[in-house]
Amino acid sequence: MQVDEDVVADGDVVLMAEILAKTMSPRPTGDGKVDIALREVAAGDADIYERMFCDPTMMSHLGGPLPRGSIEAKLRHDIDEATSGRAWIYMIQPSCGDPSVVGGNVVLWAQESHGVWISEIGWMVLPEFQGRGIGKAAVRLLLRRARDAGRWGVVHAYPGVANTASNAICRSLGFTLIGRHDAVYAERSLPTNHWHIHPVNLTEPSAD
Ligand SMILES: CC(C)(COP(=O)(O)OP(=O)(O)OC[C@H]1O[C@@H](n2cnc3c(N)ncnc32)[C@H](O)[C@@H]1OP(=O)(O)O)[C@@H](O)C(=O)NCCC(=O)NCCS
Repeated sequence: MQVDEDVVADGDVVLMAEILAKTMSPRPTGDGKVDIALREVAAGDADIYERMFCDPTMMSHLGGPLPRGSIEAKLRHDIDEATSGRAWIYMIQPSCGDPSVVGGNVVLWAQESHGVWISEIGWMVLPEFQGRGIGKAAVRLLLRRARDAGRWGVVHAYPGVANTASNAICRSLGFTLIGRHDAVYAERSLPTNHWHIHPVNLTEPSAD
């Protein structure tokens, strides 16, 4: 099914995505394998960015929603980071046969912490795709790529302490919990759990 974003209203795009989510196949199987693909962030992702970053529920563990007016600049900045290779910024494509459907994102970047550069990973899955194993599959896929590329070293993650699903992703992919950390998201302080993993230690589905 094709979704032509030029001729349908925003609400229709959301509705189409919800219909596709109901009819698509990705669901966790016994061995944890879920079929997804990743593609680099692109200029056409503004609507998806707005749904991810301006929604109070999506951003409840990330310091709250960003203003809609900031999205265009954020998308431009992310495309620049991705095309320069400074960050890996990927959109998650659930395997529903339509490459235009996006289920969320997974991002790996380097940032300075107390004078040291560290690698950090983050992820988001839109509500209609949640609870199907897509977030975990996307994080696993990106960490496999990091392992295979031999880049990024130890990767850190800072899910909010109350973010059950994100903490479960860290736990079941083999991250080690280091402790609590007050992170700053969107200029707001948030209590988080600090996890880390070297991608060579990634837990693969057969060992889940
Ligand atoms: C957190 C988020 C990415 C999870 O994505 P998802 O695709 O729904 O998660 P999955 O289906 O892959 O499930 C991952 C794990 O969380 C568990 N889980 C999923 N939803 C859950 C829920 N509502 N409550 C408790 N556990 C949950 C799953 O059982 C699975 O655990 P397991 O590996 O031990 O089996 C998604 O809910 C989201 O984007 N939320 C808003 C944004 C956000 O919080 N981003 C993360 C910032 S660190």
